[in-house]
Amino acid sequence: MSEIWDLRQHTPASLWQQCADSLTAATASARHPFHLITVATMVAASGPDQRTVVLRSFDPAAGTISFHTDIRSSKVAQLAACPQVSLHWYDPAARVQLRISATAAVHHQDDLAVKAWTRSRATSRACYTAVKGPGAAVDAFPTAPSIPLDDDPRGLVHFAVVTCRFSAIEVLTLHAGGHQRVRVQLEDQPISWQILAP
Ligand SMILES: Cc1cc2nc3c(=O)[nH]c(=O)nc-3n(C[C@H](O)[C@H](O)[C@H](O)COP(=O)(O)O)c2cc1C
Repeated sequence: MSEIWDLRQHTPASLWQQCADSLTAATASARHPFHLITVATMVAASGPDQRTVVLRSFDPAAGTISFHTDIRSSKVAQLAACPQVSLHWYDPAARVQLRISATAAVHHQDDLAVKAWTRSRATSRACYTAVKGPGAAVDAFPTAPSIPLDDDPRGLVHFAVVTCRFSAIEVLTLHAGGHQRVRVQLEDQPISWQILAP
């Protein structure tokens, strides 16, 4: 990444613009360091859970990030019980960590889910045709599902979009001369930040 992540060269607004530019680029490129998100959820009985997902959409104006998932996966039940999530990224080359606390909403068989399904690739849709959902106990490692035809609706019944709404982002950058950490408040007018001890 070529952007400057020296926070002393930023205002709160310019830093948010850089975060937004990076996350927008990350939706479009699997090679972008922010393309994969670690999403943490809460489980009342056992504590936090986390997993990797693909960043599918980012709307800086609305303050939303979305990923796709299988409605049968554990995270969906976890989100029904507690919609609070923590999203995490780390770019080791730029030495930048982003963290977002958000509230998740699961879209299943509604307009938003159908539109996302229509836009998704057949290779991605294939995962949702599996007879056994993620986390189900099976006797042997399953073979990869075959790639469905473009108009094959199988899988849609299992397909969900999780939209995560947020109003702040925390940025930590590592520097030999002193690490830098801020919490950027997006709902303030103008956008503000609180500098934090790293
Ligand atoms: C590189 C990578 C990308 C992944 N992308 C997704 C994704 O976009 N959506 C998803 O539900 N699971 C994705 N997974 C699988 C999840 O990490 C996880 O194993 C699965 O969703 C089941 O999670 P759960 O049991 O916590 O619900 C991905 C895994 C890896 C390693």
